[in-house]
Amino acid sequence: MNLTRFNLAAAASIAGFVGVLSLSFVSSEARAHGDVTPQAVDVSKLPPLKESTNKNPYVGNADAIKIGASAYGQNCARCHGLGAVSGGIAPDLRLLPTDAATDEYFKGKVQSGAIRNGVTYMPSFKDVFKEEAIWAIRSFIVSVHTED
Ligand code: HEC
Repeated sequence: MNLTRFNLAAAASIAGFVGVLSLSFVSSEARAHGDVTPQAVDVSKLPPLKESTNKNPYVGNADAIKIGASAYGQNCARCHGLGAVSGGIAPDLRLLPTDAATDEYFKGKVQSGAIRNGVTYMPSFKDVFKEEAIWAIRSFIVSVHTED
């Protein structure tokens, strides 16, 4: 076998392989940002709510913060930013007040989304999240609260 030819062929196939790798990397990145399918959240580790409430029942609960962080990453980060640090297309949720009135506002907003004149600025999560999931995300956001 002609060694030079072999090396060229090997180099070409390695280059091709690397090309495929970087292509698939790019497309999975694109999907991570463009995925509009809301992801259900497993809340089986959290104390179940006996009834619906407008006040976060999980404030400071470490499990809730962890589950909420993951649920936030899958459902909210693409608009509100990784770690709730907004890149500008949606409000920075770290700035939301941490009081009970804002608990109620938060729950309402996540359930109804922001849809005006037929344009969806934020989807409704009413049919995707159990209320426990909303409070887990609220707990995560309160845990990263900042005043400025
Ligand atoms: C498709 C982008 C998008 C996604 C996904 C999204 N949001 Fe939003 N969200 C927005 C926009 C845009 C606004 C501003 C709404 C408006 O213009 O009325 C907003 C507003 C809010 C507000 C009100 C903020 C304020 O300062 O009054 C809350 C709370 C909120 N979102 C929470 C969430 C949570 C929690 C999730 C994930 C479960 C989420 N959003 C997913 C785009 C998004």
